This record gives sequence, structure tokens and C-alpha cells, in this order.
Amino acid sequence: MTSVVRPVVWAEDHLKLLDQRLLPQQERYLECRTVEDVAAAIRGMAVRGAPAIAIAAAYGLVLAVRRDLDSYPQAEQVLAQARPTAVNLRWALERMRGVIPRSPQTLLETAQRIHEEDLQQNRRMAEIGAALLPRGVRVLTHCNTGALATGGHGTALGVIRTAHAQGKLEQVYATETRPWLQGARLTAWELQREKIPVQLIADGAAAFVMAQKKVDWVIVGADRIAANGDTANKIGTYALAVAARRHRVKFMVVAPGGTFDLRCARGADIPIEERAAAELAEFQGHPVAPAGLAAYNPVFDVTPAALITAIVCERGSLLSPTARTVAALLRRRSSLS
Ligand code: MRU
Repeated sequence: MTSVVRPVVWAEDHLKLLDQRLLPQQERYLECRTVEDVAAAIRGMAVRGAPAIAIAAAYGLVLAVRRDLDSYPQAEQVLAQARPTAVNLRWALERMRGVIPRSPQTLLETAQRIHEEDLQQNRRMAEIGAALLPRGVRVLTHCNTGALATGGHGTALGVIRTAHAQGKLEQVYATETRPWLQGARLTAWELQREKIPVQLIADGAAAFVMAQKKVDWVIVGADRIAANGDTANKIGTYALAVAARRHRVKFMVVAPGGTFDLRCARGADIPIEERAAAELAEFQGHPVAPAGLAAYNPVFDVTPAALITAIVCERGSLLSPTARTVAALLRRRSSLS
């Protein structure tokens, strides 16, 4: 059941990242031999998805320390700045910082543990999330949250995979997810490979598909969850949550413990990444807007906790999240430890 797609591969003395910019047409790995290579791959979206970024960054520190033990603080800074919204990146860097002594071998073992644990957490979340779904469920998902975005199996897509394996899943609607098309290029590719019934829809079609009563649950991942349950995820997630509430469709967020950031009291405290205007004004190098046009390109948005039916993490699930229930969830021991 667990997907064999491997976006991040440690190869003895370097890191291999499946270049997600080339999918689905080409499956080609980038070779990263320095921490700068890894930071550039994260910035450039060769590797993306909050958990996969965190895993890649952990291996990036290993590459830095293997060259020069004293480069650690600078390497950490370069990686921390690569993408601002996904807090899993900072979580992984902080976990690596806690490793004493910081020998290349102990750092490598910690990076490998972060990688392996992510897969286990995803499997656990998938069981918990799928248990909330009825038989014959029709799901809409956004962006890519699958094996490509994680250490394997996926967050939201992990729940979808497990629901399919349990014979519960009738249909998945995958949004295109403009402007990077993670839904069309990556989610649809992952689901099609596993023969999970999927139909691609334009982002703008989602509310209408809900109005047509074709969707029971929207299931998405998260790049950061504030202490009160407000959730940052790929731009367009908030619009899906608003439409879901309007049409009485349930809304699930699936994310591991490392996605919660108690330093952010509410969603407004979460830094939102803005990317280049060219990502909107061009498509694969071809202009699709007048030359020189200004564009505003926030790539994440915040869904208020009040619009979320359930948050699922490896410690369990919580319905209608609030600051009190988020704190209680995070106090629970992980069923994996
Ligand atoms: O810009 P991306 O492709 O890194 O955005 C990814 C998402 O928004 C995912 O939904 C998110 O990372 C959470 S699930 C792995």
C-alpha cells in the first residue's frame, strides 16, 4: 500500500532529490553535494512539501558538517531561510541542533531517523484519518501531500491511500493547484500510478463540484498550524474551506506533530511566503500575461480553525480545534514513541 516514490534519497556521500519540477514527464534525480545545493533545491522547488523539505534540510546539515564542522551555524541559517512558511523545516533544524556531539555520523543517524519517523507518522495518521471517513466517501484534495511531499505515503494523500486500501474510497477530485500545478502534475500522477480513481478539476471548479454534491470531505495537508488550530497551507486552501462550510462538506487537515508551531498564537502570526511574479505571468517559460505586468503571488493562505472539522496528527485527531484542544493533543504521547 505504501507508495514506492522516493523524493529524498541518501546515497553514501551525497543527497539525491527527485526533481519535482520535471514530473510527470521525466523522473530525474538532482545530486546535492553541498548544503548550498540543498538550499537551492528547496528554494527552487525541486523538492517541496513541508515534511520532504524538512528531511532534505536535515541531510543538508550532514553534507555541511562532513566538509567543515565549523560551518554548522552558517549552514543552518542558509537552510532556515530557504522557505519561510513550512515550519517543519525549522523543527528539523532544531532537532539536529540538539544532537550532541555533532559528529557527521550522529547527525546522519538523526537525519535518517527524522526520515524514517516521518513515514511511520504518515502511516499512523492515515489510519486515524481514514477511520473518520464513511464507506463510499468522495474526497477533494488540494496541492500535493503524497509520497513526493513527505518521507513516504503522505499526509492528506496518505489518508486517501489508506481509505482506498480499506475499500472505502469512491472518488478523488484533485485540484490543479495553480500556479505550480502540484495537483495536476504530482497528485494526479501518484494516484494514477496506484489506480486510485481520480479526476482532475480546475481550482475554480471546486465550489461548483461541492454544490453538485459530489464531495463529502475536503482533505488537505498543512505547512504550519498555529496554537489555536488556524492552519497555513497552499494558496487556495482557505477558499476550499469557505466553500466546504457553505455546502456542508467536512474539512480535514492532516499533519505530523512537527507542523504545529505554538510560537504562533494564531494564523495571522504565520509568515506567508510570496514568490516571483513570473510564476503567475509565465507558464513553463511562455508568457501568459502582458509583459511587465505586476503580480501579487502569496503561495500559502490561512484557514481559520473555525472552518476545520478535524485535525489529524500521529497523536490522534481532534474535532473543531481550539487552543485548548490543540494543547491537549500535543501533550498526548505519540503512539509511535
Ligand atoms: O509549495 P509546496 O508545493 O511546498 O506546498 C506544499 C503544500 O502546501 C502541502 O499541502 C503541504 O506541504 C503539506 S502536506 C505535505
